[in-house]
Amino acid sequence: MINNPDWWRGAVIYQVYPRSFYDSNGDGIGDLPGVTAKLDYIASLNVDAIWLSPFFTSPMRDFGYDVADYRNVDPIFGTLSDFDTLIAEAHKRGLRIMIDQVLSHSSDQHSWFVESRANRSNPKADWYVWADPKKDGTVPNNWLSVFGGPAWTWDSRRRQYYLHNFLTSQPDLNFHNPDVQKQVLSDVKFWLDRGVDGFRLDAINFCFHDRKLRDNPASDAVKEGSIGVRKENPYAYQFHRFDKTRPENIPFLQRLRALLDEYPGTTTVGEIGDDNSLQTMADYTSGGDKLHMAYSFDLLTEQHGADFFRKTVNTIEQKLTDGWPCWAIGNHDVARVASRWEATSDQQLKAYMAMLLTLRGSVCIYQGEELGLTEAELAYEDLVDPYGINFWPEYKGRDGCRTPMVWHHKKTHGGFSDARPWLPVYDDHYNAAVAVQHEEDNSVLEAYRTFLGWRREQPVLLKGDIRFHKAPGNILIYSRSLGAETLLVVLNLSDQAATLTLPEAKAPMAGTPDFVGGQWQGNELKLPAWGVEIARS
Ligand code: BGC
Repeated sequence: MINNPDWWRGAVIYQVYPRSFYDSNGDGIGDLPGVTAKLDYIASLNVDAIWLSPFFTSPMRDFGYDVADYRNVDPIFGTLSDFDTLIAEAHKRGLRIMIDQVLSHSSDQHSWFVESRANRSNPKADWYVWADPKKDGTVPNNWLSVFGGPAWTWDSRRRQYYLHNFLTSQPDLNFHNPDVQKQVLSDVKFWLDRGVDGFRLDAINFCFHDRKLRDNPASDAVKEGSIGVRKENPYAYQFHRFDKTRPENIPFLQRLRALLDEYPGTTTVGEIGDDNSLQTMADYTSGGDKLHMAYSFDLLTEQHGADFFRKTVNTIEQKLTDGWPCWAIGNHDVARVASRWEATSDQQLKAYMAMLLTLRGSVCIYQGEELGLTEAELAYEDLVDPYGINFWPEYKGRDGCRTPMVWHHKKTHGGFSDARPWLPVYDDHYNAAVAVQHEEDNSVLEAYRTFLGWRREQPVLLKGDIRFHKAPGNILIYSRSLGAETLLVVLNLSDQAATLTLPEAKAPMAGTPDFVGGQWQGNELKLPAWGVEIARS
């Protein structure tokens, strides 16, 4: 690998959800050898790194985000030796590997929890968050689970409640206990020693809770900042002052960073689902001693449009100081962006892509986003995500963005597997298969490949500042500057052609893919619907 410890600044990280990427052994579930088999495809996208969603030993109640052994691979996905092969093969292709670490909670099947729940005096008794009931037998406080219902479940053996911010089978580890922190850090080290290049840190602001277990206040407005939480979920009606983003998180992140600093070139991207995510992203990535990067759900909601994008990016720019954002417009937790932002043409998808890849920061792209996949509409009977099952029909959960990748339109199950996949391949996706779009001039896939290839050669896009300019309606105009170089990005985020008068004429940039380019006449720029212009100042 090229030895550039700062590689992650401005990098593009391709998220693989291994269950749905490629099934190498015909059991209907994707696996690690399946990822290895498709590394040439990933490298062909011109991305820098892969984020692998969890592949660790797990009862799979939350599809791997419930870990029962932090140091092993679940047999569904393969073996540790398959993982070693995957890293070696990725590195040969210049791709870095980041793995998901779910530190804030474990599975209830983890031996730590099995021991912890046995009684109140065992060595792991204080490894999870246990609390007595109120006098009337009810839960200790008003905290709620993101996935619905109270955040507390009664355990009849200990005759106490335990805390879980997500499923009842995902008990919350007690980070106030120094032994827990020590253990978690040594598990992280296990993977650093195995050669990973970094981590995506799941729900990283959830590690600590208020020791006094104070009630959360009601929120003044519906808070949609966390992992798909919307108005049908009671979690949106609290201000999460006491159950997450506690001040003790910061020294823990510093300890984690100190460990990573012993492995130069490694990095972290934290997931922040918070009432005030942009501020938390800034707090957690500033100072060079905590996280390297963080992403929030701000561009993962249904809101879109030039004003919204400008406001979101400006807000974080004002807060960031020396911190570093990572932008994502899709992942395994939210509806596919093509549907969520109501794309009706390939050009519209390309405009969203151009925006994502020209903002200041690093970028995560979720598998299938490069094909323009839409959200799969599944029948209630096909749902497997407990979050969706709880909130159906108002919220259908996350299965619709987790259906298998479509490799080939003419193969059964889209070439994903010979067996019936764990979630069905969505009929509408066959037309967007890799085999259909590969080397097809105007395809979304080729637009991603060319744009990413061009972008990685533009230091100004990787590291430059960003500044927004006034623009009418659904037009977004910003410049990116580094040293003496400035690029101007103009996006027409509407389905009407636009003619803009800019302060001065610019020269269009060479080397951008065909879908980029307006028509200049002096300082007047004509852009078609969803048109993208990138010009040199
Ligand atoms: C992950 C989800 C998961 C949750 C609980 C999230 O933020 O991205 O997929 O269900 O954490 O681990």
